[in-house]
Amino acid sequence: MKTIVILISGRGSNMRAIVDADIANVRIGAVISNRPDAAGLAFARERGIATACLDHRAFASRDAFDRELAATIDGFAPDLVVLAGFMRILGAAFTRHYQGRMINVHPSLLPAFTGLDTHRRALEAGCRLAGCTVHFVTAELDHGPIIAQGAVPVLDDDDPETLAARVLELEHILYPRAIARFADGRLRLSDGKVCLDTANDDAGAQLTCPGN
Ligand code: GAR
Repeated sequence: MKTIVILISGRGSNMRAIVDADIANVRIGAVISNRPDAAGLAFARERGIATACLDHRAFASRDAFDRELAATIDGFAPDLVVLAGFMRILGAAFTRHYQGRMINVHPSLLPAFTGLDTHRRALEAGCRLAGCTVHFVTAELDHGPIIAQGAVPVLDDDDPETLAARVLELEHILYPRAIARFADGRLRLSDGKVCLDTANDDAGAQLTCPGN
């Protein structure tokens, strides 16, 4: 059994998708938010999941917040930290501490459109495809070794909201799947590279690993 801790900042639809996926061998140790009013916290509580809130505004510095956040997370002894719409920039010491055991979902086909407002920027750039990326977290914002990506078409009459909704559906599929692979030992980070064993997946055999 692997324990995961999920970090949110708001609505928490990815967190809900992960909870509802009821992933084999995964126990959700806690849902932690940096915003007391995050809607996702209420959902987690209703499901009987432990919650914690660390309001970043109460901390004098980013480092102080990071330190307290790490202490809170580590109190739940997670195997994997899952950033699910957690909208805080995390410092280098924090990301180093969770190297290979912290993942994020981002609503673009990275490395394009890191940061905020991804859908508006994709539309303005005239992209015909948009999508999302699940990746291991490194110190660089919205970078890090890519675990999975999914693409959707951009439609002529899309606005940022309609495109975001189409991409979000894909996030809800890809993210629980990546966590499931981590939980059954088929996903790991090795020498900064993603090792992903998809041997028993529908798509057929595939192993991506240095030296394999
Ligand atoms: C999701 O689209 C997620 O990809 C994005 O925030 C949204 C959170 O929605 N994350 C980022 O932009 C991280 N850089 P949710 O709270 O409903 O899961």
